[in-house]
This record gives sequence, structure tokens and C-alpha cells, in this order.
Amino acid sequence: MTPSETFSQLLRGPAPVLALAPMQDVTTLQFMRVVARYGGPEVYWTEYFRVHAVSHIEKWILESITQNPTGRPIVAQMIGNDIPSLVRTAKELQQYPVAAIDLNLGCPAPVVYRKCAGGGLLREPQRIDAILGALREAVSIPFTVKTRVGFDSPAEFDTLLPIFAKHTIDLLTVHARTVVQMYRPGVRYDLIAQAARELRCPVLANGNVFGAVQAQQLLAETGVRGLMIGRGAIRNPWMFDQIRAQLRGEPVKLPTGRDVLAYIRELWDNEITPGINESSQVQRMKKFMNFIGEGVPGTFLHDIRRAETTTGFFQICESALDHDRPMPLEPVPQG
Ligand SMILES: Cc1cc2nc3c(=O)[nH]c(=O)nc-3n(C[C@H](O)[C@H](O)[C@H](O)COP(=O)(O)O)c2cc1C
Repeated sequence: MTPSETFSQLLRGPAPVLALAPMQDVTTLQFMRVVARYGGPEVYWTEYFRVHAVSHIEKWILESITQNPTGRPIVAQMIGNDIPSLVRTAKELQQYPVAAIDLNLGCPAPVVYRKCAGGGLLREPQRIDAILGALREAVSIPFTVKTRVGFDSPAEFDTLLPIFAKHTIDLLTVHARTVVQMYRPGVRYDLIAQAARELRCPVLANGNVFGAVQAQQLLAETGVRGLMIGRGAIRNPWMFDQIRAQLRGEPVKLPTGRDVLAYIRELWDNEITPGINESSQVQRMKKFMNFIGEGVPGTFLHDIRRAETTTGFFQICESALDHDRPMPLEPVPQG
């Protein structure tokens, strides 16, 4: 079976689909390999390929597809607004074993949205309409969209939904925040439920999924086909297995502090590139530690953000995590 056939079958199957969210500079080949070792999701997304008139497919992103270390389908995400370039890139990407082509309609970074790409496109629904029409024609494997609920206001979702309904997309992922909201509280799961009710295509819910019990409630409450998880999976790569256990009615196994320590060491080994100096390596680890640290009580996050040397970094990790107590790894108040 090709990755796109496997993906289509997953979407039609009975079990809720769990996906690893695309995260720039995080969801690399190396990170996917680590997550897969902890059980992993049913499907992975690449970070976005930047698409414009003179763009080339980024080699390092493509590697995760050509050397897929997960044994599961990987969806290739694109960001851009120029229709001929998006069509060209979508066709090129289909030469590789991708499960689907995904369009990013959510990136909130001002450098992206000011150019009217990612989340910026949500201000121009007619342009989205034209892009979806062109891409649907160019993509012969599943074509999917990842969106936020609006640019300025969640009320915009009512204008966006008919556009998603008009084009026969194969899956819509909804990150239930507006673009201007960035990552602030107030995730509108009710709008995800509305999308699941009104669209014929399957919907994935995204935003602040941090634990197995909450995941189960969210699936029931919204009626979605599955969940896409980003930051929660960096903090807790066991979460995909935990959610599957919860859905089967089995006890959810929590990792111990020592398990978390071993995970951090694994990330460290994965991030090492030949010739990298000590301080850059410690800095690179902080893109993971910022999320892992939110799940560790006390002053761990505060301390690790200030680490500069390898020895200092691991001393902080060991003093907080070298124990056998269970770790829920959900965000906790920081001391
Ligand atoms: C570091 C980082 C990088 C991200 N990069 C992308 C990206 O390349 N494409 C995309 O669609 N979303 C990107 N996102 C958004 C996530 O895919 C996801 O929608 C968001 O984090 C909310 O889900 P979560 O609460 O499970 O993290 C990124 C998020 C983070 C934290």
C-alpha cells in the first residue's frame, strides 16, 4: 500500500486518528524518529515547505519523507499564496512517497501573514477559494487543509466553512484559535464541533491537547475524526500511547522522572550535529525544553532556560528528574 492509500484507509477506519502537528524546526526526521519510538501517532505532518515563484523543495524537510523513520504515513505541508507555484510544488511533492498534500492557513508569524500567506490568507476568503480549486485539481492523492478559525475574529469561521465545503478536500484540521490570538487561552472547541457537523470531510481537532482524559472528552464532545497534537507531544511523547490506552479503557501508564530524563538524553543525542559547539547544542535543546519544562514542577524551567554548558544542563535535568515518581507531564504552575 502507498502512504496515501494507508492514510485514506486510516481516515475511513473505525479508530480515532492521532496526528503529530507540523512544527517548524521541531518535526524533523530526527524528532519523528524519537516520537515513533514512544509509540507515536498514526500520521505525521512535516513542517511547511515555503512556496513562492523561485522556491525549491527544502531538502531537509523532504528527507523526513524519503527516509521516513516512522513506518507511518507523512503528510507534506506547504505555505504560500501564489497559485502557479503552489501547483508546481504540489506536483513535485507527489513524486515522493507523501501521504497527502496539506495547505497551511494558520501560521500567525507576522513575517508570514503580512505577505498574505499562512494565517494571512484567512483575511482573503476569495483567494482561499481560488487556491483550493487549483490545488484540488493538481493533487491526485489526498489534499488536506490546516486552518485557524479566523484572522481577527472567530465569527469569520462562518465564511470559511462554506469554502472548505465547496472543494472536495479530504481532511480539515482546525486549530481553534484566531491568528491574532496566537497561542493565548480561549480555544474554541465548539467551532471544531461545528466543522465536524457541517463538513462532509473528516475533521481533526487541534489546540491544547495535553492529556489522555481530556483527549477522550474532546473526541466525544466535538465528534471529530481525530486529534492533532503539537506542543503536548514534545512535552509528553508517551501521550499517543496514553490516549490509545484511555480509549480502550485500560490504565494509562505515566512515565517516571527517570523516563523523562532518558527522553531528554535521546533528544540531545538526536540534535547533535558534527562540529556543533557546546553552547549552540544547549541552545538548540531549549526549543524542546521550553515545552518539557512546563510539565515539570518547581524551578526547572527557569533554571534550564539559563543553562549554558552541557554539564550545567544535565545537572539541572538530573536534580529535577532523577527519581521514580510518576510524571503526568501536563502544564503545571511554575515555581
Ligand atoms: C514551534 C512551533 C512550530 C510550528 N510550526 C508550524 C508549521 O510549520 N505549520 C503549521 O501548520 N503549524 C505550525 N505550528 C502550529 C502547530 O501545528 C499547532 O497548530 C499549534 O501548536 C496548536 O497545537 P498544540 O496546542 O497541540 O501545540 C507550530 C507550532 C509550534 C509551537
